[in-house]
Order: sequence, then C-alpha cells, then structure tokens
Amino acid sequence: MLQYFDPDTSGLNPNIDYGTPPSNSETLVSLSIDGTDIAVPEGTSVLRAATLAGINIPKLCASDNLEAFGSCRMCAVEIEGRRGYPASCTTPVSEGMTVTTQNAKLAKLRRNIMELYISDHPLDCLTCPANGNCELQDVAGAVGLREVRYGFEGENHLDAEVDDSNPYFSFDPSKCIVCSRCIRACEEVQGTFALTIDGRGFDSKVSAGQNDPFMDSECVSCGACVQACPTSTLMEKSVIDAGQPEHSVVTTCAYCGVGCSFKAEMKGDQLVRMVPYKGGDANQGHSCVKGRFAFGYATHKDRIKEPMIRESIDDPWQVVTWEEAIEFSAKKLKDTQARYGRESIGGITSSRCTNEETYLVQKLIRAAFGNNNTDTCARVCHSPTGFGLKTTMGESAGTQTFDSVMKADTIVVIGANPTDAHPVFASQMRKRLRQGAKLIVIDPRRIDLLKTPHGTEGIHLPLRPGTNVAMINSLAHVIVTEGLEDKGFIESRCELKQYNQWRDFIAEERHSPEALEVVTGVSADLVRQAARAYGEADNGAIYYGLGVTEHSQGSTMVMGIANLAMATGNIGREGVGVNPLRGQNNVQGSCDMGSFPHELPGYQHVGDSAVRTKFQDAWNVVIDNEPGLRIPNMFDAAIAGSFKAMYVQGEDIAQSDPNTQHVEAALSSLDCLIVQDIFLNETAKYAHVLLPGSTFLEKNGTFTNAERRINRVRKVMAPVAGMEDWEVTMALSNALGYPMHYNHPSEIMDEIARLTPTFTGVSYDRLDDLGSIQWPCNDEHPDGTPTMHTLDFPIGKGKFAVTEYVATEEKTNRKFPLLLTTGRILSQYNVGAQTRRTENSQWHSEDVLEIHPSDAELRGVREGDWLGVSSRVGQTVLRARISDRMLPGVVWTTFHHPGSGANVITTDSSDWATNCPEYKVTAVQVEKVSQPSAWQRHFAQFDERQHQLLDSKTGEEERSDVASFE
Ligand code: SF4
Ligand code: SF4
Ligand code: SF4
Ligand code: FES
Repeated sequence: MLQYFDPDTSGLNPNIDYGTPPSNSETLVSLSIDGTDIAVPEGTSVLRAATLAGINIPKLCASDNLEAFGSCRMCAVEIEGRRGYPASCTTPVSEGMTVTTQNAKLAKLRRNIMELYISDHPLDCLTCPANGNCELQDVAGAVGLREVRYGFEGENHLDAEVDDSNPYFSFDPSKCIVCSRCIRACEEVQGTFALTIDGRGFDSKVSAGQNDPFMDSECVSCGACVQACPTSTLMEKSVIDAGQPEHSVVTTCAYCGVGCSFKAEMKGDQLVRMVPYKGGDANQGHSCVKGRFAFGYATHKDRIKEPMIRESIDDPWQVVTWEEAIEFSAKKLKDTQARYGRESIGGITSSRCTNEETYLVQKLIRAAFGNNNTDTCARVCHSPTGFGLKTTMGESAGTQTFDSVMKADTIVVIGANPTDAHPVFASQMRKRLRQGAKLIVIDPRRIDLLKTPHGTEGIHLPLRPGTNVAMINSLAHVIVTEGLEDKGFIESRCELKQYNQWRDFIAEERHSPEALEVVTGVSADLVRQAARAYGEADNGAIYYGLGVTEHSQGSTMVMGIANLAMATGNIGREGVGVNPLRGQNNVQGSCDMGSFPHELPGYQHVGDSAVRTKFQDAWNVVIDNEPGLRIPNMFDAAIAGSFKAMYVQGEDIAQSDPNTQHVEAALSSLDCLIVQDIFLNETAKYAHVLLPGSTFLEKNGTFTNAERRINRVRKVMAPVAGMEDWEVTMALSNALGYPMHYNHPSEIMDEIARLTPTFTGVSYDRLDDLGSIQWPCNDEHPDGTPTMHTLDFPIGKGKFAVTEYVATEEKTNRKFPLLLTTGRILSQYNVGAQTRRTENSQWHSEDVLEIHPSDAELRGVREGDWLGVSSRVGQTVLRARISDRMLPGVVWTTFHHPGSGANVITTDSSDWATNCPEYKVTAVQVEKVSQPSAWQRHFAQFDERQHQLLDSKTGEEERSDVASFE
C-alpha cells in the first residue's frame, strides 16, 4: 500500500499541484482510489489523495496552496455508498472509502461543465498568451471536449474591458471563469484582500477594490493572483510580449533577506518571467513585487559592460581590457602600500554578492593586502545583532526558521516593517495573526502589519525614537516583578550569577513602565498589557529590524531582547526565539564569511592564534593578529591622509552610509578607489577603476537568508562583461602576487566548509540534495539546524547582560525640535540602484518626508510642499506627505533615491560597541523652502558631470595612453 505522511512534504514534487493543502494529522486513513490502495493523513482531501497516488482528477478551482473551495465541480468523483458526485477537493478521505475517478458518467458530467465554461470564453487559443500553458485548455483536452453546443450569440463577457494599469500584469476579464483562485490567493497567501467578486450569478466578476483599476486598489503586486489564475485572465506582460518560456532554472532572489526561491523561466537567453518556486524552503511558492517582477535592471542599458580606468575623477573613463584593468588596479594598490604602508589600503565586501564572492574578497584583503582592513554593509545595519546575540547566546544569528512563526502565540515586532521590507515572511506572519496570534508592535510609526485584516487587534507601542532600551527594560521589569519569568529555563539554561545581577537591576522601580513613561512617551498601561501578552504566551517570538540596531545603544537593545527571551524561556523550540530580520539578500552570509575586521569566516576571532594557524596553513600566508579598520575608521583615516586606496565590491557607501558629506570627503581623499558594480552608482563616481559586476542571474553561488538558510544561486545567463564577480577578485589577487585558483564557486564553498565549523557539512551536492541548509551543518547536524539553542547555547549557558538606558546625545532643542527616523517601502530596495531601473518607480518615484498634521499645520505646510530638512550636519529638501502614522514631533523618510540626500542629514553618532550608525534618530528642523538644498544642487552638477565623463569614455582604439599608467 502507498503511504504518505504529508507533514513531511520533502519527498513531494514541487512541480505537481496536489490540489489541496496537506493535512497535519499523524493518524493515517486507508482508502482505495480506482483500485489503488493508499493511506494518507486524516483530513486529506480525496483530490490530494488521488494525486499522491498518481491519479489525475481534473480540477479548475483547486490548488494546493489554497483551502478547497468547491466551486467548479470539475473534480467530481463517485464514492461507494454515497449519493451523487461529490467534489473530491472538498471531500475528506475516510477509512475504507472506495473512490472512482473515471467512468462514463463522470466524463459526461465534466464535459458538460467544461462546455458551459467554454461557451462564455473567447476561442482564441492560438493567439492567447497562455497557449500551451493554460489549465483551462489542459482540462478541456483531458475531459475530451469536442464541441460546444451553446452559441456565443447570447449574453456573455467576451467584450469585457482589459485592465492594463499594472505595469507587470494585465487583467482580461473576458477570459475569466470566476474560479476565485485569485481572490483566495490574495487573501490566504498574500494577506492583502485586494480582490473581491462583484455582482451575483451571471454578473459575477472579479474586481480589485471597489471596481478600481489594479493600480488604484490595495493591490501590492505580489503576483500571487497571477500565479493562481488557471487561464490567461491575469497574465504577466513579459509573457504576453515574449511568449511562453521554454526552460527554467531554480535560483534565489537577490533582493531581501527572506531569500525566496524562483524558477527563472527563459526563452533562449532571455529571462521571460520569475515564478516563485513551490519547493523553496523560505517562500514555499510565494513572492513579492521585487523578486517576482523587478528583474529588468539586469538588462538595463545603464549596466556597466566594460572595465574602465582613469587617473583622476575629473577625467573621462577609458575603456580597457580586463587584463589592463586588473594590472592597473594591482599596480595602484602595490604602489600605495609601498609609499604609505601595509595598512593604507582596504576593502569592503558585498552583501549583495554570493557567499563565495564575499569569502574571496575578505581572503584577498587578509592574504594579498596583508591586513584586516575588511568590512561590510552590516557595519551600518546588523553589526549590533552580531555583538548582542553573540554576547548573550553565543551565536550571531537568528534562532528560528520562518515557518516557526506558525507556532507563535504572541508575535513581537520591534523596529521592523515586514510588509514592506520582508514581504513574503510578512504574509506568513499575517496568516498566523489571522489564526489568532497576538501582535505587539514597538515602533514610532504605525506600520501596515497593524492593519492585518481579520486578525486580532495589535498592541502598538509608539515610542519616541532613541528610547528602545528604556522600553525593553520596562517590559522586562513587568515580567520580573509580576512573576512571568520561566524559572525552570533560567535555572537550567542560564548563568545564575549574571541572571541575579540583571534581575536586581531590572526590578528597580526606575525601570517600571510608570517611571519610564516620560522617557518612551508610551502609556504604562499599554506597556504592561504588552509585557503580559508576551510573558504569558505559551510561545512568544520576537522579530526585529534596523529600528533596533541603528541606534547609539543598538547592541544594548539586542542584548535586552535576548534577556527578555531568556527570562521567559522563549528560546530553543518552534514558535519562539529572537529573530533579526536581515535586510539585504546576503547580509547574513557576508557576516558569516568573515567580512568584519576582527573575525575570520564563521566568526572566528583573528586574535585567536589557533584560528589564525588554521587559516594560515590553508592559505599559506601570515595573517595579521590585530583587527583592521571598520568602515567609519577607513573614512576618518582617508580624510586624515593615512588610508589611500580601497576595493569596494557591490556596495554603494556614498549613498548608504551616514553623513554623506563626510563620506564624500573621504572618497575624494583616496588615491585609488576600485569599484566593482553593475551600475555607475554614487560611490563609482569617485572611482579610478570601474570593474563591471555581474547580477545574481549571471553567476553560480549561494546566499544565506535571515534564517541562516543557505540557498543556491544558479546562473541563467552569461555575465554581461564576461566575468563573474568571484573571477574578478581571483584575478586581482593573482595580479597582486597572492595566487588563487578556483575552477567553480563550489570549490570555494568546499574551502569554506573545511575552515568554518558551522559549515563543515555544506557542499553544492548536499544543497542540491536537500534544497537548502540552515547552518550550523556539521557531523552533529548533518541536515542543518532549523532551531538553534534547543539544548544549550554555544557558550554553554545563556548570559544575561545589564542594559542601562543611556539617552542618545542626539537631542531635540529649539533649533532642531523634531526627530527624524528612516525606513523602507515595499517597491524600492535599499539605495534603489536596481528598483529605480524598473517599473517599480511607478509606485515611488521620489523619497518624501512624512510629517504629522499638527507639525505641518504649525509650519503652514501642505501636502506636496517642498520642505527643507536641516540637522546638525546638513540640509536637504524633500516633498511633504502629511501623515498621522507617527506621533507629533517625529518625521520619517526613506533613502531610495540618491538626490534626496536623506543621509546628508543623518549624523556620525553610532552604536557604542560596533559603530553602527544611529540612522534612526536625528534631530531636525523642517521649514517650507522653494529650491533644492546647496548639497542637492552640488549633487546634481556632480552627477551630470560624472555621467558626461562616462558617456565620453574613450574606446579601445583610443587606448594608446594606457601604458603611461603602468
Ligand atoms: S498581485 Fe497580490 S496583492 Fe495584488 S491582487 Fe494579486 S494577490 Fe492581491
Ligand atoms: S481571474 Fe483567473 S483566477 Fe481569478 S477568477 Fe478569473 S479565472 Fe479564476
Ligand atoms: S520577499 Fe525578499 S527575497 Fe522574497 S521575492 Fe521579495 S524581495 Fe525577493
Ligand atoms: S476543483 Fe474541486 S470543485 Fe473545483
């Protein structure tokens, strides 16, 4: 007998639609379908059981990612002892059931249903964009429909108007069979509820919002409805333009830290569409607008396609060969070190690039540059996570899988905006909230998650920016003083001496919500309510983002979160944990791979001689035992004149780092800046060497997502400039005299596995077998580690840390009376270099300043006015958006457009432990103005000049003076 234990779906084929979702029951039920005996979990539908047994029942309204609906009746079957023809998708299996799926009566019934559908459907299959990949067409063929007896002369929907408002997909209601799959996908998978059925009976039609065009509705363009549609009613415009794809490759999205798997569907070497992959462990077939649709940047005309060099940033670029560019770079780096010393150069690894590429860049710096001057963008985002979690729990990463949220009873979101920044995970979180989990949001801004339809009402603690530590202390105070601690966990899993110190500290009255109300601005009652909701939950899970880390007390706050989780025993099982939501696609990986100046891969300290010996033996080189410069130290040293050359791979420090004018001054001070990127980004405008980067579509490798999940990145097209990023780093190392030889990124991963205890069991073969692996993966955990700290911590016992609240030095006063905080929006990504070059700009064409109505009224500001925003370090000008999402006294913006200059106003203030900038707290004044700021005018001129220098680049035939650089 065939037996299927559905909760373990790993053996199932992700390319098959099993009709209805799996059942979680562990009780098996036996039945017979068309003479095949099968046992499946109780609660499984007959349709799913048949599909598991390899028996196809035609279906139209069912799909295995949606609850059964039972509207089309196409899946009708006969069941012995039952009357009529029940729909197999809505009929659960029962013990001893005998099912017939094919006979003459069923065939006739299905043909009749199909005939009705087709009688109101255009017969234009040959010219339909879905031709060859249409479920309606397939089912019509499967049921043997040969004629349609009803004419088209009666009432029909064939002239219904097409809605082309969405830039990525069209909606042609003439093709709609009203199966409601799109509506259910929007509700159940995405959680947006943008679609509805308008009208009744024959007049029923799918409608976005109140019969709005898709673009004017609540739709967030996740594509779930398009994916669900069994006809061409909802269809990707890229497929309408290019035709059906011919082959596909499974790879990983290169936008955010969720790490969604996609099938890149190709026609020749043209990417036709990205289809979320059901077998993807992080996304299970869901997507957001960025990964699903915003891939056009990869073939954008702005791509840098040739290596270029120049002596000065005032010179036009000269196109050179790869060999010349590499030689030029190597000579500059060697000359700089000969003149200014070994420490005068350094580099920055990329959190957009693969693990293998990041590993090579830090290896290049440590082995070929001979110093530890390596850093990465995590410096400006999650470095406090590394410090805080390592100090308290012994590992610098989140503790759970995304799926774990489905077992959480109380979900705490601190300083994160998942629906915009981690949308696919947000959809899963919303699903759990709709099932009744409680939500607590700690954020100065009212985020969209609080609007989750049909969920319980969330508790919002709208604290003043900069008061996180006061808030976490007051929550912990309630836990401790109201007896909500998990004594058993504390006694068995934590260092008691440190716990007792922390407990005495946190129990002091000065940490009570009442005492701290004046600091956080949040009512003590609300704080107590939230603390109880977390402390009393069977499973409480904390998710946090940059609103935690990007503060002068970022590391303290991370430790405060860990304290809270340990005090309540919310560590070491599913449904709980401490989960940093990592921003960039591979920021977890870039930290894992040893990008920080003090840590070799796997967070192994450079000061540890045994660690150094291991790497020295493998790399055949002496490694400096002193940590090198962090990014802000590199900038300061550049301005001071001791740091003279830099290799920056895939990171736009000129736009993303704080205090832009300081960064610009540092970059302008360098004798040689080597930038490897896909576009002329803001940093590249200060460069002397521009090496074309390759997108995720153009290379092999791995990314590690926010759950420590290592996913394969697979090449689907050739690199535009002929080299993958890892090959360029390798060439540079060889030119510098430190030999590197790898034939394929898998060999780099093999080296990583040899040197990194948490990666010992990782290889491309294992990844292909398992689909993905969550580190640690070693002899102890050969298939990886979904949940961390189940029995103990890597440091043995958990360490509570005393978290004294220290107010930030960035204070409001009469001159700067408002607090600016920053964040992200769904359609744009980070510095916007990719998404600005896609149709996503239709949703967000400029950064705006959100200002509370009372602050706006005080200044006579109306929607859309130009506002000068001044801080202690600079001024910029943004348009006003009046919004009550923040409290009075707080303004908010994004930094997706370089000309907005959001980071011209953010200051150098940073986390005490890691130097992570305090982006989230800047005291500002806002006033109406009539022209761009001085910096914006300078930026516009510089930008135009640099584009002219790029456009006037000299080609190969004019490269006679290249020799003079050598
Ligand atoms: S694209 Fe997503 S959000 Fe928009 S209607 Fe479809 S499922 Fe809903
Ligand atoms: S648009 Fe597609 S998925 Fe939605 S009801 Fe019509 S046919 Fe079904
Ligand atoms: S959620 Fe993140 S990883 Fe997934 S598709 Fe969107 S941007 Fe890509
Ligand atoms: S597939 Fe079962 S009723 Fe539509």
